[in-house]
Amino acid sequence: MANKMWGGRFTEGPDAIMEEINASIDFDQVLYAQDIRGSKAHVHMLSDQNIISREDADKIDQGLDTILREIEAGDFKFSRALEDIHMNIESRLTDLIGPVAGRLHTARSRNDQVATDFRLWVRDIVDNLNTQLSDLQLVLATKALEHAHVIMPGFTHLQSAQPVTFGHHLLAYVEMFARDRSRFSDARKRMNESPLGAAALAGTSFPIDREATAKSLGFDRPLANSLDAVADRDFALEALSTAAITAIHLSRFAEEIVIWSSAQFNFVKLSDKFTTGSSIMPQKRNPDAAELVRAKSGRIIGALNALLIVMKGLPLAYSKDMQEDKEQAFDALQNLSLCVAAMTGMIREMEPNVTVLKQAAGSGFSTATDLADWLVRVLGIPFRDAHHATGAIVARASELEIELHEVSLADMQAVHKDINKGVFSVLTVDDSVRSRTSLGGTAPANVIKQAQIWLKKLETETVKRS
Ligand code: ARG
Repeated sequence: MANKMWGGRFTEGPDAIMEEINASIDFDQVLYAQDIRGSKAHVHMLSDQNIISREDADKIDQGLDTILREIEAGDFKFSRALEDIHMNIESRLTDLIGPVAGRLHTARSRNDQVATDFRLWVRDIVDNLNTQLSDLQLVLATKALEHAHVIMPGFTHLQSAQPVTFGHHLLAYVEMFARDRSRFSDARKRMNESPLGAAALAGTSFPIDREATAKSLGFDRPLANSLDAVADRDFALEALSTAAITAIHLSRFAEEIVIWSSAQFNFVKLSDKFTTGSSIMPQKRNPDAAELVRAKSGRIIGALNALLIVMKGLPLAYSKDMQEDKEQAFDALQNLSLCVAAMTGMIREMEPNVTVLKQAAGSGFSTATDLADWLVRVLGIPFRDAHHATGAIVARASELEIELHEVSLADMQAVHKDINKGVFSVLTVDDSVRSRTSLGGTAPANVIKQAQIWLKKLETETVKRS
């Protein structure tokens, strides 16, 4: 049987394989709420513009409410023969209210319909991600304040470099997620224009009011060009590229958590709630949540890549290629949301092993730079010479298998005769971090100030939200 929604000129129905490749209902059913929202906005506008009667509009509106309830109750039967969410809903509307349902599609095409639905969906999840990232920042800033004085090794090349504070490390991620949020908000501004009313590609001869539908769907304005309106998927690309960057931030953090929680590092303790055991090795507590967050960056970056390639070389306006824009985007953005939630839970429960961290912070002569800086500051020697002298003192400590602050004054003076006992005031890890008060530096005083600034900002946001 030919398709009842568009099969007027067809005598035969589709081949089974055609139906399989053509149908998008298996994945685009997640757009049901946005589709109904869009249809309601459209039908109200049609009646306000006297394109259809108020009576018909009311029937359609009520039918759509019924369908929404049916879908949410799990009572709706999705059919592949009806291809996609738009035709599944319209067909059900016909069952419910009869031929008047056919008036809904006046001055509209599935091309502007799907572009509208998908934009609304992406906008919703972007808003949700923004809120979730703000919760994650709040958890991080709270922990940062709590652990502003906890000293840990700071690494470069994953080699012990200089001591830093645990709070400072967490605040680095607060900054990264702030940039992610700003990218999401920025993308949101550009995506918030309505395609509805562009119809198939050229606009329509009906006296529609695109400003009205745009406004009722919360868009800032209608897209100005009908061809662009149905052919544009920048909004999804921008959301996915921001998602990819966010996923990378989460993945880097996840990697650190995997390292930190290993028996060899033992920097942090993860909660039972976010770890798993091994069926054979009873001692194990595996950081599975962190590993999965790290791994899921793969599919998120993959979705961006896939959509870029789908869009590349598509002539204006709509091509069916664009049906392939959704499945991976849904998957990627939903998985990102899951990753942010998992990371938030993991961090909330994660506790630093303060003693281990401090001990690790002092190993590897991590205060060597402090020694060199002291030689420059107090003895007035050039930094390069100070670097050289410090190297000699480090070599001596290494030979004696002791830490820098344990090297005797006599041994130091053998390297540079002017060194005095004042040098011992900069050689412990506490001295080191306390001295790093330059803007953005790791000193506990800085961390406290920064964490408080963030907390204040994030808490006002939370108040505004609730
Ligand atoms: N399921 C389609 C999609 O996701 C809807 C638009 C179909 N438009 C068309 N002219 N065949 O893109």
